[in-house]
Amino acid sequence: MGELYTTLRDRSDPRTRTFCDSCHRPQVGTSEGLSCESCHSAVGNSAPVNALLRWDRSAPLASARADSVMTSGHRTRFHGFLSSSELCGTCHEVQGPGAFRETPFTEWQRSPAAQTQTTCVHCHGSPSPGRPAERPLLAAATDPATPTPLRARTDHHFIGPDEDDPAVAARLLAASAALTIAREGSNAVVTVTSMVAGHSLPTGVRAVRELWLELSVLDANGQRRVLSGALADDQSFVANEPVAREDFHDELSAGLPTEASIVRVRALEPGASRTVRFAVEAGTTVVRARLLYRAQSASLRRALGLSPPAAPMEIAGAELRW
Ligand code: HEC
Ligand code: HEC
Ligand code: HEC
Ligand code: HEC
Repeated sequence: MGELYTTLRDRSDPRTRTFCDSCHRPQVGTSEGLSCESCHSAVGNSAPVNALLRWDRSAPLASARADSVMTSGHRTRFHGFLSSSELCGTCHEVQGPGAFRETPFTEWQRSPAAQTQTTCVHCHGSPSPGRPAERPLLAAATDPATPTPLRARTDHHFIGPDEDDPAVAARLLAASAALTIAREGSNAVVTVTSMVAGHSLPTGVRAVRELWLELSVLDANGQRRVLSGALADDQSFVANEPVAREDFHDELSAGLPTEASIVRVRALEPGASRTVRFAVEAGTTVVRARLLYRAQSASLRRALGLSPPAAPMEIAGAELRW
């Protein structure tokens, strides 16, 4: 369980804590936390939000295939809910206290991916996280009592942007956005376009994530100057920059996200673009733009008395010789 989660949860009132735990430490039968049964014993929901799943632990475990194999460990049966976006959506759609609003399921429902029946698990259970891809053929289980046929296997890592290894997280975020820089007289025009077909960029727990544009120039002496989106040594944002910072995470009112409200949702919808225009001084030789992401906001970690977050990762970048 992450330090950030535990600290935020412990700062909340008892009712809110129970609410947080209903997803982060769900109880299905005797196991606490996300378990195989969280998904493979789920048979539906009472609403596609706030983990309102219904489980049937007396039924055989759900399989996505009609020809699923009975093993000596347990029985299986085909159950369509397992492959549905609604299964994932029931836990990932959050109507919580304050700014804990997570909406990937409703974003997915009106996305281009939904129109082609591309579901959460097509993208998140594939060998290239975030993109549908051919799956490796492997035995679904190694059961000495029952020979199991080869199956196209689902990757169950469900990689997120907060992985301990940034190289792993980068696999999910890579190619999520395209960045271009154009020149219009003495202005630079930077365009960010979302390449994510399944939901907004960013999505999920936007109350703690940060995605923003960093703009910089090289002057005639080869000195780099960051105009927007610079970070101080403690990883916090620098105030009063020459160009106003362009953010893609939610704008929150002050305070902890459990108490704050969302002032503005700035995420890019699937395929959407946003443009930033700024004047470039004479003598500039290169204009550079980078789209930066971090899984945990520096101001939030500071407010909770935690150490600064890791350096952000670049998910797209471009340069223009001026
Ligand atoms: C077409 C492929 C695709 C589909 C379909 C899709 N996703 Fe994603 N998902 C991505 C990509 C790419 C990213 C990384 C960029 C981003 O955050 O948008 C991502 C990121 C995420 C994240 C991490 C966001 C963060 O910053 O913390 C969550 C959570 C998530 N998806 C949940 C879902 C759920 C739930 C569904 C189904 C309702 C779904 N996704 C459907 C491609 C997809
Ligand atoms: C977050 C939900 C989730 C959890 C947790 C989960 N699974 Fe799955 N599992 C799925 C989905 C979704 C599929 C595939 C559905 C499809 O192919 O459309 C799947 C498929 C499978 C398959 C069939 C072969 C394959 O790879 O597709 C096996 C076997 C399996 N899971 C075992 C497990 C075991 C064992 C655990 C616990 C260690 C587990 N699962 C936990 C969602 C989950
Ligand atoms: C029983 C509730 C539940 C279900 C069902 C569920 N998830 Fe999750 N999922 C979670 C929780 C809680 C986390 C966050 C874990 C953490 O960071 O502590 C998570 C994390 C993730 C992440 C990584 C995001 C991150 O920041 O770590 C992805 C991607 C993801 N789930 C995709 C899926 C997909 C795809 C499905 C459907 C096959 C699914 N989930 C079904 C509860 C669920
Ligand atoms: C209905 C299910 C649900 C509830 C309730 C819920 N969360 Fe989450 N939470 C998730 C899922 C799913 C993710 C992963 C989404 C993502 O990565 O974008 C997540 C991610 C997080 C993360 C990011 C974890 C990390 O290390 O990056 C934090 C922090 C968090 N939740 C805190 C809370 C707190 C505090 C509460 C109670 C106020 C809460 N959550 C209630 C489903 C839930």
